Amino acid sequence: MPVRLGILGCGNVGASLVKIILEGQSLIESQTGEVLEIAAIAVRDLSADRPVWVPRDLLTDDPFAVVTDPTVDIIVEVMGGYDPAKPLIEEALRSKKSVVTANKSLLSDYGEEISQLARSQGRDVFFEAAVAGGIPLIRSLKVSLAAERVRRVTGIVNGTTNYILTRMSEDGVSYSDALSSAQELGYAEADPVADVEGFDASAKAAILASIAFGRNVMLQDVSREGITGITLDDFAFAKRHGYTLKLLAICEWIESEGDSEGKISVRVHPAMVSLTHPLASVRDAFNAVFVEGDAVGELMFYGRGAGGLPTASAVLGDVIDAAHNLRFGSTERHMARP
Ligand code: HSE
Repeated sequence: MPVRLGILGCGNVGASLVKIILEGQSLIESQTGEVLEIAAIAVRDLSADRPVWVPRDLLTDDPFAVVTDPTVDIIVEVMGGYDPAKPLIEEALRSKKSVVTANKSLLSDYGEEISQLARSQGRDVFFEAAVAGGIPLIRSLKVSLAAERVRRVTGIVNGTTNYILTRMSEDGVSYSDALSSAQELGYAEADPVADVEGFDASAKAAILASIAFGRNVMLQDVSREGITGITLDDFAFAKRHGYTLKLLAICEWIESEGDSEGKISVRVHPAMVSLTHPLASVRDAFNAVFVEGDAVGELMFYGRGAGGLPTASAVLGDVIDAAHNLRFGSTERHMARP
């Protein structure tokens, strides 16, 4: 029996997902044993141009009909934002669908609420694509590092700002010119303030900290400073002393005597990074996350943190996991931490 998908949103990520599924059906089946069938794609404007070709007969402008369709098994939410994404995800879970989402802002505010609803319905909500795009990071933290005492997670998790800082550092381009080219290249959020003021990185930091430390960390808990105050002089100063500047998301577990739970610090701010540190070599719009744990020592995850295909790759991995769980009547099978 094929697993039927309802896709909410057909921008860069949604269209890339449709392309990978339609072009890779036999590979997906032979590698995973799952046959995926796209039941419907909900979009705001039926006549808008799509980044890649998608079958017109699958398009609908009624997302609530998709999430309540009894023949749909898994809902993929790649529309972003809060409304209608939140009510649609909730309705999907209440209608006994598993959900895969890339919605970092929604998860950083309502992740715990949505996870609880999923648990109460006996369904999955997976979100590998919400942090660092195509990098398999969430599953690594949840599964491979499930029993690790993670001390610190330090990430370059916003491609736009890393691109801007790279252009300033390497080519001496001004902040505003570098921002314009990041926008032209399609890295930035619809409102680039989310990138340059660190909101996007803070949402991702909240999600990372929640998983790494098994606590409910929300966007409002993250201390934040963006990159708008950085000048070319700052780079010259940093370079003279053997450093470069990066916008870092830092999630730290702080041991305190007599408190076995410890404390958590989660912050996003520009930081001097030694030129000898692996994070200093992360250039352009790439992302990287450096994890330090008691037993495992140091790990670094590197790859494309934005863009249609890399993000769709992460979504597809979640879809397969959710499909397996539906098949075996289980949930959160890969999830070792609640
Ligand atoms: N604007 C984001 C970034 C997109 O630049 O990283 C991916 O989340």
